[in-house]
Order: sequence, then structure tokens, then C-alpha cells
Amino acid sequence: MTSRIPGFYRLDPDARLAALSERAVVPSECVERYRTQGLTLQDADLMVENVISTFALPNAVAVNFRINGVDRFVPMVVEEPSVVAAVSNMARLARVSGGFTADADDGVMIGQIQVVGVTDVEATVAAIEGARDELIACASGIHPRLVERGGGMRGLEVRHVRYDEPGYPPEDMVVVHFLLDCVDAMGANMVNTVAERLAGPIESLTGCRVALRILSNLADRRLARAEVSVPASAFGADGEQVAADIASAWRFAWADPYRAATHNKGVMNGIDAVCLATGNDWRAVEAGVHAFAARDGQYRPVTSWRFEGGVLKGRIEVPLQIGVVGGPIKVHPTVQDNLQLMGVTTARELAEVMAAVGLAQNMGALKALATEGIQAGHMRMHARTIAATAGAVPREVPHITARLCGEGEFSVERARELLDEIRSAG
Ligand code: MEV
Repeated sequence: MTSRIPGFYRLDPDARLAALSERAVVPSECVERYRTQGLTLQDADLMVENVISTFALPNAVAVNFRINGVDRFVPMVVEEPSVVAAVSNMARLARVSGGFTADADDGVMIGQIQVVGVTDVEATVAAIEGARDELIACASGIHPRLVERGGGMRGLEVRHVRYDEPGYPPEDMVVVHFLLDCVDAMGANMVNTVAERLAGPIESLTGCRVALRILSNLADRRLARAEVSVPASAFGADGEQVAADIASAWRFAWADPYRAATHNKGVMNGIDAVCLATGNDWRAVEAGVHAFAARDGQYRPVTSWRFEGGVLKGRIEVPLQIGVVGGPIKVHPTVQDNLQLMGVTTARELAEVMAAVGLAQNMGALKALATEGIQAGHMRMHARTIAATAGAVPREVPHITARLCGEGEFSVERARELLDEIRSAG
């Protein structure tokens, strides 16, 4: 199966679905569901409180991805034009050298239990450390099915944390971190349950009060990585310059947090869109990625780009707390269909895809910024909306869009004139 469908972007949504169905990546029952129904109001009402309706967004498919030697279509839910086109273009360039390689850690999440009112830090730490095995055994019994699926407790660490904000009285706390491998689930509920259950035993051991019991979204035991190498020639005649400029744009982000924030926003354009398409908690992923980006004390880019020996080499490493089971994933029919379309069955595979998408999205943004700027692409997409607003039917849109872009004139009036012109020419 190849994820290359030349001209996919020129098709209408029905024809795109048909093209995917012909390649057997979308079974016929999914085609029908994609066409006719997404989340029902009844199911939405079970997901959150105070529901009055559902809210639709574009569900698009990025093409051309090859990750660890496997071709994949990638569903992306996003409202911003150019994101899907850019990532698909970069995935096409990456194919020249075999696509992306990616890997991800086990699904280990961190739970935090905060012990407060600590007067003797050393004794409190020692009391918890001395009972580590019993605490792990107690936690292991909480989710027996998780253990059957290959997950479960992976460790327990005790940390001394000091609040020492200038001008206020300092405060010592002891924080227990337990590590729970949630395998194919994001795991928030499982982690929070363990955190709450361990609170009582920890209070008994220490004689201190437990305050917060909650997962940490800085999921740095659950990292995903992707790499890509693109020969400069893949970027066209002035490819050496483009590749060098991409690497230079990355150095700017490394050195300057103001640029790094925008750089990482571009990475998250891709990762968030796949999170949404797969029913994952993108706020958790965002929180984790940005906290991880600041781990050395300065906020840095989560990717790196170096141009060496005629080859542009990109790398990403990000915490990805995502799952393919549990929560809204089970309830939302489009999420199920999207997972099937992507062909991923494990959280590890999904994290690998997300990492590759984040890297490709970043390459697309930096390439655009290093060359024509991002407005040209945005205006091309905007021209389609203008054509439709002027009354063009889907088969007329590409022609009107091409003319508007060629003339650099993006008004509805001009689109109407062009429409009259092509209609009167028959
Ligand atoms: C826009 O959504 C994302 C970019 O600003 C990212 C970047 O500047 O690297 C283009």
C-alpha cells in the first residue's frame, strides 16, 4: 500500500473517500459513516456536561507519509489552512530518502503525591523509601487488567521539593513520583486512581498530610522521537541555500525563546491535529511538550535541523501522552474510523506517527519561511474560499483559484468577473 495519491488535493471530498476506499484503507462501512454521521448528540451528551449541540471541524487526510518503512495516511482535524498541504508536501520530499524513522518509549506516566507539613524532610523521605516495595505492591493491585496487558508499576521515586519564592516564607514538601506504564491508554484516570489510593498509606507512613494526588503532564518518561534526512537537491535548484536557511532558522529558535515559541507552535499544528483526529487530550500533550521544551532552563525548540554534507537532517523528541483506547476514543465513531484509516493499533505506533508529523510540519513551516514566506501559501488557500464565495461550484474553484493567484488579486469582485468569463466561454 502506498500513501502517495498524486492529485489527491484536487479531488472533491467524495472522490477522496473513494480513492482511499479503493486502496482498502477505508472499509465501506467507514466510508458511509464518514459521509453521513459523526458524533451523535446522545453520545456527546455522555461525554461532557451541559451539551447543546456538536461542533464540526474539517477532518482532512495528509498523504505521502512513510514512517519506519510503512506508508500511512494521517487524519488531521484542524481549522488552519495550509497545515495539511504543507505536511503532505514535506512527507513527499522525505520519501526521496525513505521517509521518517521514529520510535517511542513505553507508555509510562508519572503520578505525583504531595506530602505537606513536613518538619523532618530526611525522615519523611526515608519512611517512604523504606516502604517502596509495599507501596508498589499496593499500587500494582489496583489495575490488574493493566498488568495482564503488559503494563503496571515501573517504579517509585521520592523527591524533596522546596518552595523558596523570594519575599515569602520557604516551605519543604516531599513529593512521591510513581511510574505507571499505561500501555495503549493515555492513562490519566488510571494514574489518578493510583495516586488517590496511595495517599492513605503514605499518610500512615509519614504522619504528614497528603495534599495533591494527580498525574504530571510533564510526561518525560513517555518520549517519542522521529528523524528525517533530506538531500538538498530535493528542495529544487537552490536546494543548498534552502537547506542552509532551514538550519539557520532553527538556530534562531534555539537561541531565542520568542522565536522558539512560534517554532514549536508550528510543530504543534501537526501534532494537535492528529491528537484531535484520534480523540486525544491535546491540552495535556501541549502542556507536556512546552514544559519539556524548557527543561534546560531556557525555552528551546523541540526539533533540531542541521545541514551537513549536502543533507538536511531533522530530529524531534517530545513527550506524547496519548492513547488508542479509553475515554472519548471509544465513543466517537470518527475517531475509530480515523485510527483504522491510519492503520495504527497501539499507542506506540500513534506516538511515532505524531512525532513524524510534528517534524514534517516544522520542516514545512521553516521551508516556507526560508523561501517565499508563509503568506503565499495562505493566500492560495484563501483564494479557494474567495472563489467559493463568488459562487464557483467545486469544478470551477481550481481554475478561479489559479487565476486569482496568478494575478495576485484576491477579491470576490475579481473572482466574480473570472467566473462570468469562464461561464460565457462555455
Ligand atoms: C503558523 O501556524 C505556524 C508558523 O508560524 C510556524 C513557524 O513560524 O515556524 C508558520
